[in-house]
Amino acid sequence: MLPSNLEKAMFGVIATPILHLADRHHVFSHLAAHGPGTAKDIATDLNVDEDTLDRMLLLLTAFDVIQRTPAGQYSLPGNMRPYVDPDDERYVGGFLTHLAQETASRMPLLDSYLRHGKRAVDGPNPQPFASLYRDDQATRTFLNAMWDLSFAPSKELAALAGLDDATHLVDVGGASGPFALAALHASPTLRATVFDLPLVQPYLEETRATHDLGDRLTFAPGDFFTDDFPEGDLIAFGYILSDWPDHICLHLLRKAHQACQDHGRVLVMDRLFDDSRQGPLATSAMNLTMQLETQGRHRTADEYTALLENAGFTSCETPPSHSDKHLIIGHKTTDRSLARPQTRPSARSSHPRPLASKGRLA
Ligand SMILES: C[S@@+](CC[C@H](N)C(=O)[O-])C[C@H]1O[C@@H](n2cnc3c(N)ncnc32)[C@H](O)[C@@H]1O
Repeated sequence: MLPSNLEKAMFGVIATPILHLADRHHVFSHLAAHGPGTAKDIATDLNVDEDTLDRMLLLLTAFDVIQRTPAGQYSLPGNMRPYVDPDDERYVGGFLTHLAQETASRMPLLDSYLRHGKRAVDGPNPQPFASLYRDDQATRTFLNAMWDLSFAPSKELAALAGLDDATHLVDVGGASGPFALAALHASPTLRATVFDLPLVQPYLEETRATHDLGDRLTFAPGDFFTDDFPEGDLIAFGYILSDWPDHICLHLLRKAHQACQDHGRVLVMDRLFDDSRQGPLATSAMNLTMQLETQGRHRTADEYTALLENAGFTSCETPPSHSDKHLIIGHKTTDRSLARPQTRPSARSSHPRPLASKGRLA
Protein backbone atom coordinates (compact mmCIF):
# COMPACT_ATOMS: atom_id res chain seq x y z
CA MET A 1 0.00 0.00 0.00
CA LEU A 2 1.47 3.37 -1.00
CA PRO A 3 1.67 6.03 1.71
CA SER A 4 -1.36 8.25 1.08
CA ASN A 5 0.74 11.44 0.66
CA LEU A 6 2.79 9.75 -2.07
CA GLU A 7 -0.40 8.45 -3.68
CA LYS A 8 -1.97 11.95 -3.74
CA ALA A 9 1.22 13.50 -5.11
CA MET A 10 1.49 10.80 -7.81
CA PHE A 11 -2.04 11.29 -9.05
CA GLY A 12 -1.85 15.09 -9.02
CA VAL A 13 -1.22 14.92 -12.77
CA ILE A 14 -4.77 13.59 -13.15
CA ALA A 15 -6.39 15.74 -10.47
CA THR A 16 -5.61 19.23 -11.88
CA PRO A 17 -7.02 18.63 -15.38
CA ILE A 18 -10.10 16.93 -13.90
CA LEU A 19 -10.75 19.87 -11.58
CA HIS A 20 -10.38 22.18 -14.57
CA LEU A 21 -12.68 20.07 -16.78
CA ALA A 22 -15.33 19.81 -14.07
CA ASP A 23 -15.21 23.59 -13.75
CA ARG A 24 -15.33 24.16 -17.51
CA HIS A 25 -18.32 21.84 -17.94
CA HIS A 26 -20.16 23.58 -15.05
CA VAL A 27 -20.23 20.52 -12.81
CA PHE A 28 -19.42 22.53 -9.68
CA SER A 29 -21.83 25.35 -10.50
CA HIS A 30 -24.54 22.70 -11.09
CA LEU A 31 -23.88 21.18 -7.66
CA ALA A 32 -23.79 24.66 -6.09
CA ALA A 33 -27.07 25.70 -7.72
CA HIS A 34 -29.08 22.43 -7.62
CA GLY A 35 -27.67 20.60 -4.60
CA PRO A 36 -26.99 16.84 -4.53
CA GLY A 37 -27.53 14.79 -7.68
CA THR A 38 -26.58 11.48 -9.28
CA ALA A 39 -24.16 11.30 -12.22
CA LYS A 40 -27.18 10.54 -14.42
CA ASP A 41 -29.08 13.67 -13.23
CA ILE A 42 -26.05 15.91 -13.64
CA ALA A 43 -25.02 14.42 -17.01
CA THR A 44 -28.55 14.90 -18.36
CA ASP A 45 -28.71 18.52 -17.22
CA LEU A 46 -25.24 19.36 -18.55
CA ASN A 47 -25.58 17.29 -21.72
CA VAL A 48 -22.35 15.34 -21.13
CA ASP A 49 -21.49 11.64 -21.20
CA GLU A 50 -22.70 9.98 -17.97
CA ASP A 51 -20.01 7.28 -17.74
CA THR A 52 -17.13 9.76 -18.18
CA LEU A 53 -18.72 12.19 -15.76
CA ASP A 54 -19.26 9.48 -13.13
CA ARG A 55 -15.57 8.50 -13.31
CA MET A 56 -14.57 12.14 -12.85
CA LEU A 57 -16.95 12.50 -9.90
CA LEU A 58 -15.56 9.33 -8.30
CA LEU A 59 -12.04 10.73 -8.60
CA LEU A 60 -13.05 14.07 -7.09
CA THR A 61 -14.75 12.12 -4.28
CA ALA A 62 -11.53 10.21 -3.59
CA PHE A 63 -9.70 13.54 -3.43
CA ASP A 64 -12.34 14.79 -0.92
CA VAL A 65 -13.28 17.68 -3.22
CA ILE A 66 -16.87 16.44 -3.42
CA GLN A 67 -18.91 13.92 -1.41
CA ARG A 68 -20.84 10.82 -2.51
CA THR A 69 -23.59 9.02 -0.64
CA PRO A 70 -23.82 5.20 -0.84
CA ALA A 71 -26.89 5.74 -3.06
CA GLY A 72 -24.72 7.63 -5.59
CA GLN A 73 -25.73 11.22 -4.86
CA TYR A 74 -22.87 13.71 -5.30
CA SER A 75 -22.69 16.98 -3.37
CA LEU A 76 -20.32 19.89 -2.60
CA PRO A 77 -18.95 20.10 0.96
CA GLY A 78 -19.64 23.54 2.45
CA ASN A 79 -15.96 24.45 2.80
CA MET A 80 -15.33 23.69 -0.90
CA ARG A 81 -18.21 25.63 -2.37
CA PRO A 82 -16.86 29.22 -2.30
CA TYR A 83 -13.77 28.23 -4.27
CA VAL A 84 -15.53 26.33 -7.06
CA ASP A 85 -18.71 28.40 -7.33
CA PRO A 86 -18.21 31.01 -10.09
CA ASP A 87 -20.63 33.34 -8.30
CA ASP A 88 -18.37 33.58 -5.25
CA GLU A 89 -15.47 36.04 -5.20
CA ARG A 90 -13.18 33.33 -3.83
CA TYR A 91 -13.73 31.27 -7.02
CA VAL A 92 -10.45 29.82 -8.33
CA GLY A 93 -11.62 28.70 -11.79
CA GLY A 94 -9.50 31.25 -13.65
CA PHE A 95 -6.41 30.15 -11.76
CA LEU A 96 -7.25 26.49 -12.45
CA THR A 97 -7.42 27.30 -16.16
CA HIS A 98 -3.98 28.89 -15.92
CA LEU A 99 -2.56 25.83 -14.11
CA ALA A 100 -4.17 23.28 -16.43
CA GLN A 101 -3.20 25.10 -19.64
CA GLU A 102 -0.25 27.46 -19.23
CA THR A 103 1.62 25.78 -16.37
CA ALA A 104 1.01 22.22 -17.59
CA SER A 105 2.22 23.09 -21.11
CA ARG A 106 5.52 24.32 -19.64
CA MET A 107 6.21 21.38 -17.31
CA PRO A 108 8.45 19.57 -19.85
CA LEU A 109 10.83 22.55 -19.65
CA LEU A 110 11.88 21.42 -16.16
CA ASP A 111 13.70 18.46 -17.65
CA SER A 112 15.73 20.82 -19.85
CA TYR A 113 16.36 23.16 -16.92
CA LEU A 114 17.64 20.22 -14.87
CA ARG A 115 19.99 19.19 -17.65
CA HIS A 116 21.26 22.58 -18.81
CA GLY A 117 20.11 25.24 -16.31
CA LYS A 118 17.30 27.76 -16.82
CA ARG A 119 19.56 30.51 -18.13
CA ALA A 120 21.05 28.31 -20.85
CA VAL A 121 17.58 27.19 -21.97
CA ASP A 122 15.77 30.55 -21.76
CA GLY A 123 18.62 32.68 -23.13
CA PRO A 124 20.15 35.78 -21.57
CA ASN A 125 17.13 38.08 -21.90
CA PRO A 126 13.88 36.18 -21.37
CA GLN A 127 10.64 38.19 -21.55
CA PRO A 128 8.14 36.24 -19.45
CA PHE A 129 5.23 38.57 -20.15
CA ALA A 130 5.72 38.54 -23.93
CA SER A 131 4.78 34.89 -23.78
CA LEU A 132 2.00 35.19 -21.17
CA TYR A 133 0.49 38.04 -23.23
CA ARG A 134 1.03 36.38 -26.65
CA ASP A 135 -2.57 37.08 -27.78
CA ASP A 136 -5.85 38.50 -26.41
CA GLN A 137 -7.10 35.14 -25.16
CA ALA A 138 -3.87 34.33 -23.31
CA THR A 139 -3.82 37.85 -21.81
CA ARG A 140 -7.41 37.57 -20.59
CA THR A 141 -6.78 34.08 -19.16
CA PHE A 142 -3.71 35.32 -17.28
CA LEU A 143 -5.43 38.44 -15.93
CA ASN A 144 -8.44 36.37 -14.81
CA ALA A 145 -6.07 34.01 -13.00
CA MET A 146 -4.48 37.00 -11.26
CA TRP A 147 -7.91 38.33 -10.35
CA ASP A 148 -8.86 34.99 -8.79
CA LEU A 149 -5.65 34.93 -6.75
CA SER A 150 -5.74 38.56 -5.70
CA PHE A 151 -9.21 40.01 -5.36
CA ALA A 152 -10.54 37.98 -2.42
CA PRO A 153 -7.45 38.47 -0.19
CA SER A 154 -7.24 42.18 -1.03
CA LYS A 155 -9.96 43.28 1.40
CA GLU A 156 -7.96 42.02 4.36
CA LEU A 157 -4.69 43.36 2.91
CA ALA A 158 -6.25 46.80 2.33
CA ALA A 159 -7.49 46.82 5.93
CA LEU A 160 -4.08 45.77 7.24
CA ALA A 161 -2.40 48.48 5.16
CA GLY A 162 -4.37 51.13 7.09
CA LEU A 163 -5.43 53.37 4.22
CA ASP A 164 -7.14 56.13 6.22
CA ASP A 165 -4.29 58.60 5.94
CA ALA A 166 -3.34 57.71 2.33
CA THR A 167 -4.37 59.81 -0.65
CA HIS A 168 -2.85 58.23 -3.75
CA LEU A 169 -2.17 54.53 -4.29
CA VAL A 170 0.18 53.63 -7.14
CA ASP A 171 -0.26 49.91 -7.87
CA VAL A 172 2.84 48.90 -9.83
CA GLY A 173 1.92 46.04 -12.18
CA GLY A 174 -1.62 46.35 -10.81
CA ALA A 175 -3.11 44.35 -13.74
CA SER A 176 -6.91 44.63 -14.12
CA GLY A 177 -7.10 46.24 -10.67
CA PRO A 178 -7.96 43.61 -8.02
CA PHE A 179 -6.06 45.36 -5.22
CA ALA A 180 -6.84 48.88 -6.44
CA LEU A 181 -10.57 48.06 -6.37
CA ALA A 182 -10.40 46.66 -2.83
CA ALA A 183 -8.38 49.67 -1.66
CA LEU A 184 -10.84 52.13 -3.21
CA HIS A 185 -13.73 50.29 -1.52
CA ALA A 186 -11.86 50.42 1.80
CA SER A 187 -11.09 54.14 1.66
CA PRO A 188 -13.61 56.51 0.05
CA THR A 189 -11.10 59.39 -0.11
CA LEU A 190 -8.34 57.40 -1.83
CA ARG A 191 -7.57 57.52 -5.54
CA ALA A 192 -5.57 54.86 -7.32
CA THR A 193 -3.32 54.64 -10.36
CA VAL A 194 -2.52 51.27 -11.89
CA PHE A 195 0.88 51.45 -13.58
CA ASP A 196 1.25 48.53 -15.99
CA LEU A 197 2.18 47.59 -19.54
CA PRO A 198 0.10 49.47 -22.16
CA LEU A 199 -1.71 46.33 -23.36
CA VAL A 200 -3.25 45.87 -19.89
CA GLN A 201 -5.14 49.17 -20.14
CA PRO A 202 -8.40 47.85 -21.70
CA TYR A 203 -8.73 45.26 -18.92
CA LEU A 204 -8.29 47.90 -16.20
CA GLU A 205 -10.82 50.10 -18.02
CA GLU A 206 -13.32 47.20 -17.82
CA THR A 207 -12.89 47.11 -14.04
CA ARG A 208 -13.24 50.89 -13.83
CA ALA A 209 -16.46 50.84 -15.86
CA THR A 210 -17.96 47.75 -14.14
CA HIS A 211 -17.46 49.31 -10.71
CA ASP A 212 -18.28 52.85 -11.76
CA LEU A 213 -15.06 54.22 -10.29
CA GLY A 214 -14.77 57.29 -12.56
CA ASP A 215 -11.55 59.24 -12.10
CA ARG A 216 -10.78 57.58 -8.73
CA LEU A 217 -9.08 54.83 -10.75
CA THR A 218 -6.70 55.73 -13.57
CA PHE A 219 -4.23 53.81 -15.71
CA ALA A 220 -0.63 54.92 -16.31
CA PRO A 221 0.93 52.92 -19.16
CA GLY A 222 4.60 52.18 -18.80
CA ASP A 223 7.44 49.74 -18.41
CA PHE A 224 8.59 49.50 -14.82
CA PHE A 225 12.17 48.83 -15.92
CA THR A 226 12.58 51.97 -17.96
CA ASP A 227 9.86 54.43 -16.93
CA ASP A 228 9.57 56.38 -13.68
CA PHE A 229 6.68 55.39 -11.44
CA PRO A 230 3.90 57.91 -10.82
CA GLU A 231 4.24 59.62 -7.42
CA GLY A 232 2.08 58.53 -4.51
CA ASP A 233 2.01 58.02 -0.78
CA LEU A 234 1.31 54.28 -1.16
CA ILE A 235 3.31 52.27 -3.68
CA ALA A 236 2.03 48.69 -4.03
CA PHE A 237 3.64 45.58 -5.51
CA GLY A 238 1.18 42.66 -5.62
CA TYR A 239 2.73 39.41 -6.85
CA ILE A 240 5.43 41.45 -8.63
CA LEU A 241 8.64 40.83 -6.71
CA SER A 242 8.13 37.05 -6.85
CA ASP A 243 8.43 37.35 -10.67
CA TRP A 244 12.00 38.66 -10.50
CA PRO A 245 15.46 37.94 -9.02
CA ASP A 246 16.79 39.98 -6.09
CA HIS A 247 18.76 42.54 -8.11
CA ILE A 248 15.68 43.44 -10.17
CA CYS A 249 13.51 43.60 -7.02
CA LEU A 250 16.02 45.99 -5.55
CA HIS A 251 15.93 48.14 -8.69
CA LEU A 252 12.11 48.27 -8.55
CA LEU A 253 12.04 48.99 -4.80
CA ARG A 254 14.58 51.83 -5.20
CA LYS A 255 12.37 53.34 -7.90
CA ALA A 256 9.43 52.95 -5.52
CA HIS A 257 11.40 54.76 -2.83
CA GLN A 258 11.96 57.65 -5.24
CA ALA A 259 8.29 57.77 -6.24
CA CYS A 260 7.06 57.49 -2.66
CA GLN A 261 6.25 60.75 -0.89
CA ASP A 262 7.93 61.29 2.49
CA HIS A 263 6.01 59.50 5.26
CA GLY A 264 4.48 57.27 2.61
CA ARG A 265 4.67 53.46 2.49
CA VAL A 266 5.46 50.62 0.15
CA LEU A 267 3.15 47.58 0.26
CA VAL A 268 4.64 44.29 -0.87
CA MET A 269 1.89 41.68 -1.19
CA ASP A 270 3.04 38.18 -1.97
CA ARG A 271 3.18 34.55 -0.91
CA LEU A 272 5.63 33.79 1.87
CA PHE A 273 7.70 30.77 2.69
CA ASP A 274 7.84 29.75 6.34
CA ASP A 275 11.23 30.56 7.84
CA SER A 276 11.99 26.81 7.71
CA ARG A 277 10.96 26.65 3.99
CA GLN A 278 8.99 23.49 4.75
CA GLY A 279 5.91 25.12 3.26
CA PRO A 280 3.21 26.16 2.87
CA LEU A 281 2.45 23.74 0.01
CA ALA A 282 0.95 26.45 -2.23
CA THR A 283 4.10 28.61 -1.86
CA SER A 284 6.35 25.65 -2.66
CA ALA A 285 4.22 24.74 -5.69
CA MET A 286 4.11 28.30 -6.98
CA ASN A 287 7.84 28.69 -6.34
CA LEU A 288 8.34 25.92 -8.91
CA THR A 289 5.90 27.50 -11.37
CA MET A 290 7.79 30.79 -10.94
CA GLN A 291 10.78 28.94 -12.39
CA LEU A 292 8.65 27.93 -15.40
CA GLU A 293 6.77 31.17 -16.01
CA THR A 294 8.95 33.99 -14.68
CA GLN A 295 12.47 34.79 -13.53
CA GLY A 296 11.49 34.93 -9.87
CA ARG A 297 11.00 32.89 -6.74
CA HIS A 298 9.14 33.02 -3.46
CA ARG A 299 10.77 34.38 -0.32
CA THR A 300 10.44 34.50 3.46
CA ALA A 301 9.26 37.63 5.31
CA ASP A 302 12.84 38.26 6.40
CA GLU A 303 14.09 38.16 2.82
CA TYR A 304 11.52 40.76 1.74
CA THR A 305 12.38 42.91 4.76
CA ALA A 306 16.07 42.80 3.82
CA LEU A 307 15.24 43.92 0.26
CA LEU A 308 13.03 46.75 1.54
CA GLU A 309 15.67 47.97 3.97
CA ASN A 310 18.32 47.79 1.28
CA ALA A 311 16.13 50.04 -0.90
CA GLY A 312 15.85 52.62 1.91
CA PHE A 313 12.53 51.73 3.56
CA THR A 314 12.43 51.58 7.36
CA SER A 315 10.27 50.24 10.18
CA CYS A 316 9.29 47.22 8.08
CA GLU A 317 6.41 45.16 9.41
CA THR A 318 4.49 42.05 8.41
CA PRO A 319 1.07 42.22 10.03
CA PRO A 320 -0.47 38.74 10.35
CA SER A 321 -2.98 37.91 7.60
CA HIS A 322 -5.16 34.90 6.87
CA SER A 323 -4.86 34.29 3.13
CA ASP A 324 -2.00 33.01 0.97
CA LYS A 325 -1.19 36.59 0.00
CA HIS A 326 0.68 38.39 2.77
CA LEU A 327 1.60 42.02 3.33
CA ILE A 328 5.03 43.47 4.12
CA ILE A 329 5.00 47.21 4.75
CA GLY A 330 8.03 49.49 4.49
CA HIS A 331 7.94 53.14 5.54
CA LYS A 332 9.64 56.06 3.89
CA THR A 333 10.58 58.38 6.67
CA THR A 334 13.62 60.07 8.01
CA ASP A 335 12.10 60.16 11.50
CA ARG A 336 13.38 57.11 13.42
CA SER A 337 11.01 57.78 16.31
CA LEU A 338 8.17 56.51 14.07
CA ALA A 339 9.73 53.05 14.00
CA ARG A 340 7.28 50.27 14.86
CA PRO A 341 8.12 46.75 16.01
CA GLN A 342 8.28 44.08 13.31
CA THR A 343 5.61 41.37 13.52
CA ARG A 344 5.54 38.09 11.62
CA PRO A 345 2.66 36.13 10.08
CA SER A 346 1.97 32.44 10.15
CA ALA A 347 2.46 31.82 6.42
CA ARG A 348 0.75 28.46 6.81
CA SER A 349 -2.69 29.88 7.59
CA SER A 350 -5.26 29.99 4.80
CA HIS A 351 -8.72 31.40 5.49
CA PRO A 352 -9.62 33.78 2.66
CA ARG A 353 -12.49 36.11 3.46
CA PRO A 354 -15.23 37.40 1.15
CA LEU A 355 -15.59 40.84 -0.44
CA ALA A 356 -18.87 42.56 -1.18
CA SER A 357 -18.61 42.55 -4.96
CA LYS A 358 -16.95 40.56 -7.67
CA GLY A 359 -15.31 41.82 -10.85
CA ARG A 360 -13.63 39.10 -12.91
CA LEU A 361 -13.26 39.85 -16.57
CA ALA A 362 -15.91 38.05 -18.61
C1 LIG B 1 1.95 38.40 -11.57
S1 LIG B 1 1.07 39.77 -12.19
C2 LIG B 1 0.47 40.56 -10.73
C3 LIG B 1 -0.82 41.30 -10.94
C4 LIG B 1 -1.39 42.02 -9.71
N1 LIG B 1 -0.48 43.01 -9.17
C5 LIG B 1 -1.82 41.05 -8.64
O1 LIG B 1 -1.40 41.18 -7.49
O2 LIG B 1 -2.62 40.17 -8.95
C6 LIG B 1 2.39 40.79 -12.74
C7 LIG B 1 1.97 42.14 -13.31
O3 LIG B 1 3.15 42.86 -13.68
C8 LIG B 1 2.91 43.50 -14.91
N2 LIG B 1 4.21 43.72 -15.60
C9 LIG B 1 5.07 42.80 -16.05
N3 LIG B 1 6.15 43.37 -16.60
C10 LIG B 1 5.96 44.70 -16.50
C11 LIG B 1 6.72 45.84 -16.87
N4 LIG B 1 7.93 45.70 -17.48
N5 LIG B 1 6.24 47.07 -16.60
C12 LIG B 1 5.02 47.23 -15.98
N6 LIG B 1 4.25 46.17 -15.59
C13 LIG B 1 4.71 44.94 -15.84
C14 LIG B 1 2.05 42.51 -15.66
O4 LIG B 1 1.37 43.10 -16.75
C15 LIG B 1 1.12 42.02 -14.55
O5 LIG B 1 0.00 42.83 -14.45
